[in-house]
Amino acid sequence: MLRYVTTNPGKVLEARARLPAVEQLDFDYPEIQSPDLGPIAAAGARAAYRHVNAPVLVDDAGLFVAGFDGFPGPYSSFVETTVGVEAVSRLCARELDEMDASFRCVLGYCDGTDLDAPHGESGENDTHAPRVDDDDGNSLPVVLFEGVVDGQIVSPRGSGGFGYDPIFEVAGATYAEMSPGDKNDHSHRGQALDAFADWHDGRS
Ligand code: IMP
Repeated sequence: MLRYVTTNPGKVLEARARLPAVEQLDFDYPEIQSPDLGPIAAAGARAAYRHVNAPVLVDDAGLFVAGFDGFPGPYSSFVETTVGVEAVSRLCARELDEMDASFRCVLGYCDGTDLDAPHGESGENDTHAPRVDDDDGNSLPVVLFEGVVDGQIVSPRGSGGFGYDPIFEVAGATYAEMSPGDKNDHSHRGQALDAFADWHDGRS
């Protein structure tokens, strides 16, 4: 069984549309501070694996607004719970000429085995996170899968989804105007889930 580690049931709906066998692990792992999602997902995967001692897939995502040099990016959750997504849309409309933004998702997989993840520093575009020793000196490799989708910030539209879905438009519709399956066909998470599924199927 594969545990999808998130406190967000909306993410689980989307994960199940691609990976029907996943179970939600409602575990709020401590998030490290980093300008990149990769190291955050890798640290979360290690923490979650240590928590359950079973294979885990951690999902870390963020909205990167081009005209704000990628803000809120890894701070997307903090910004959603403080100012809210409608205020982000209004701020972009007021301050920016271009409403370009990208949504990113990084999945981190850890099962406690040697996953051919190299030693070294992790960067934003790594497909493998470096090994990190746990307290007993054991190494915990993590494999990362990233999805990135370019879109536009718009005024809120639609009633589905969660988070920034109503203000992020791709191919003429906001994520909140799409079903979870349709959103996967267009989304950062759908890309990352497909990359993980290809890799995982190739191992068995
Ligand atoms: P996290 O990955 O759970 O840390 O999410 C970071 C922030 O992005 C939170 O505010 C989420 O609500 C939001 N978020 C994550 N994924 C999505 C998505 O697919 N659509 C809209 N908002 C998202």
